[in-house]
Amino acid sequence: MIPVCYPFIGEKELEYVTDCIKTNWISSKGKYVEEFEEKFAKYCDCNYGITTTNGTTALHLALASINVAKGDEVIIPSFTMIATAFAVIYCGAKPVLVDAKADTLNINAKKIEEKITERTKAIMPVHIYGHSCDMDPIMKLAKKYNLYVVEDAAEVHGAEYKGKKAGGVGDIGCFSFYANKIITCGEGGMIVTNNEKIAEKARSLKNLSFPKGKRIYKHYSVGYNYRMTNIQAAIGLAQLEKIVELIERRRKNAYLYNMLLKDVEGITLPIEKKWAKNVYWMYSILIEDKFGMSRDKLMSKLKEEGIETRSSFIPMHQQPVFHKMGLFKREKYPIAEELSKKGMYLPSSSGLKEKEIRYIFDTIKNIKENLK
Ligand SMILES: Cc1ncc(COP(=O)(O)O)c(C=O)c1O
Repeated sequence: MIPVCYPFIGEKELEYVTDCIKTNWISSKGKYVEEFEEKFAKYCDCNYGITTTNGTTALHLALASINVAKGDEVIIPSFTMIATAFAVIYCGAKPVLVDAKADTLNINAKKIEEKITERTKAIMPVHIYGHSCDMDPIMKLAKKYNLYVVEDAAEVHGAEYKGKKAGGVGDIGCFSFYANKIITCGEGGMIVTNNEKIAEKARSLKNLSFPKGKRIYKHYSVGYNYRMTNIQAAIGLAQLEKIVELIERRRKNAYLYNMLLKDVEGITLPIEKKWAKNVYWMYSILIEDKFGMSRDKLMSKLKEEGIETRSSFIPMHQQPVFHKMGLFKREKYPIAEELSKKGMYLPSSSGLKEKEIRYIFDTIKNIKENLK
């Protein structure tokens, strides 16, 4: 089976992890945590990086650090992974949804303003599948209404918006380092920011609100244990050292997919806006009616031929968990619904080989030809 995604790890990761074990630095203190935070923040053109246990806790920590709480609203896209919405819920605040744009799959910036109320505290754009959101209009709205911008950059390490790194444009950027991400720690997350106050608050909150630099058990606010271990950071640092190669591999794979699939009727390919650098975290396609077979049927046919795929996100307004909470029940976001119905991703690992991509293309072509 060609997996939809697997990590690209090697000798360096082993060397750094072995160093942690041999030197006994296996918990959340240690040189790799500091170095990973410093270097990844710098990579995003940010002054501060604060590691966490995963991307979900990075999102929660970001919102907690700007005091999002009960009574507040946070604007998010409906077409996203559920962690974005859960992070808002963890704060006791209300997620407010906006539809997607059909081309980039990202939040439709033109539809944000109508959702802003006096309770809105932040806008949380999510850069979907490797392509940056159109950030200028979002930053403009945030300025006009005095809102924070917290970027969910879980899927876009190294992606760019007008030459700036996605995640480094808003007030805070949140990353995931889950095993299928462009760089991984196994599990892990990080927030990056240029705001010293936010960074300080996040550092304290992620460590049970211990007073800064002191080993005394006196706490002035509720904190969390979101500490990344030195072992995770060791893997992350080794991965960061080869991020350029990892991104180039994903982009090269995407070009080959594009070249092969561009003439297959009924498949819409991912795009790259002229202001963006797409890192193709997932090579995501849409199966249109013209293809002649449903997305689900194609997925199961591919599986029979040893090709693993994944269907796109189910929008937030269609999630039973939120309906049970009385949220979004009668809301409609037609683009998100369409993307969810038609979208799937093909194998997308950085380690994917040219012959595997050609096999995937030949298989899709044969499935289509056999329909005639
Ligand atoms: C857009 C988005 N946000 C947040 C997350 C959560 O990250 P994690 O799985 O590391 O908690 C993911 C995970 O894939 C994601 O895709």
